Amino acid sequence: MLMADLIAKKRDGGELSREEIYFMIDGYTRGDIPDYQMSAMCMAILLKGMSDAETLDMTRAMVQSGETLDLSPIDGLKGDKHSTGGVGDKTSLILCPMVAACGLKIAKMSGRGLGHTGGTIDKLESFPGFVTGISEDEFFKNVNRIGIAIAGQTADLVPADKKLYALRDVTGTVPSIPLIVSSIMSKKLASGADVIVLDVKCGSGAFMKTEEDARRLAEGLTRIGRLAGKKCAAVITDMDQPLGWAVGNALEVKEAIEVLKGEKGGDLMELCLTLGSCMLTEAGVAETIEQARSMLLESISSGAALEKLSLMVSAQHGDGRDVYDTSRLPLAPVQYEAVAKTGGYVQRIEAEQVGLVSMHLGGGRATKDSGIDLSVGLVLHKKVGDKVEPGESLATIHASSLEKAEEAAELLRACFSFSGEPVERGSFIKAIVR
Ligand code: URA
Repeated sequence: MLMADLIAKKRDGGELSREEIYFMIDGYTRGDIPDYQMSAMCMAILLKGMSDAETLDMTRAMVQSGETLDLSPIDGLKGDKHSTGGVGDKTSLILCPMVAACGLKIAKMSGRGLGHTGGTIDKLESFPGFVTGISEDEFFKNVNRIGIAIAGQTADLVPADKKLYALRDVTGTVPSIPLIVSSIMSKKLASGADVIVLDVKCGSGAFMKTEEDARRLAEGLTRIGRLAGKKCAAVITDMDQPLGWAVGNALEVKEAIEVLKGEKGGDLMELCLTLGSCMLTEAGVAETIEQARSMLLESISSGAALEKLSLMVSAQHGDGRDVYDTSRLPLAPVQYEAVAKTGGYVQRIEAEQVGLVSMHLGGGRATKDSGIDLSVGLVLHKKVGDKVEPGESLATIHASSLEKAEEAAELLRACFSFSGEPVERGSFIKAIVR
């Protein structure tokens, strides 16, 4: 078999066979197929698309390129969640304890943040002593005992995706639905959960700019998940501003705890209820969405969800009491109000740019090996639709120095756009794909 023939076949709109797809993915992972041929193939796939059968084969070939996690030592169904990447997205820290408190096991591998979006693993390390690199055995034992564990990836899952994603990033081939689907779903399948929910973001700061494209991606992800034997649902959400109020690792943990205490609601809570009710109904823990929502709300009002987070922190070598007293979490030396210079109704808050402000403060990684300051970031006081008077605070900046805080405040002001007229915000949850 020759890679040049496969590229020509896809260029001419042909359908690749299973054998051809495995040949291509195995060869590329081993280094037998060079980057220039794989780039040409990715561009042909971007332009000509792939059938569901091809996308499923590509996903499975990618899963087989590395190790996989066998979660069978854990009793019962296991749930997992994936987001296509958002600024201020602390959903996993809220959703996972809520769902676990309702009886669905959470055995989740999470990543570190790179660039302007933070990673769940970095956020969890804000708890002093918290260990994300627990062994597989400890991971299984914790989930069996308390129903939840979130750990950093230890096994070498889907090496094909690491290579392929880096190549797509520099060849203009990221926004291809079959390539995104196989990239995301291969990692989810390799992580072994039975029930997978996906949060697909749409908007200017997201991969999918329009609702229509986001829907095509959500449908592709759920179809391939189902074809691979998983219970799967997706929620499409708007990214016209950061999610919730806090952006920055420890600040997001504090916000997640406030939501779990029932002190904060809004979009963040609505997203957790929507994703959580999809998970519980797909898993058969609840029969209807309404029943699932009331179970999830009960997990908040009874304190059971917060207790799950506390148990997880203790089980992963932190101090579970920190969940009830957040004064032990990292705190930046400087708090500085970023005041508005103009007024009006907030029309947009460029999420990606806000993520870059947090990075500028030291809260994000420029390269995968750089360190991060867990204490810095910002807490917004104004969101889309709010009225702002000149001189009012848009956000509190948490910084390592006054100089950094002043620079960040200037950058943050540029993230806001205002309208003279009241702004009607469209629905934040655009659709549920099941
Ligand atoms: N996220 C992924 O993991 N892969 C993609 O291709 C796009 C977003």
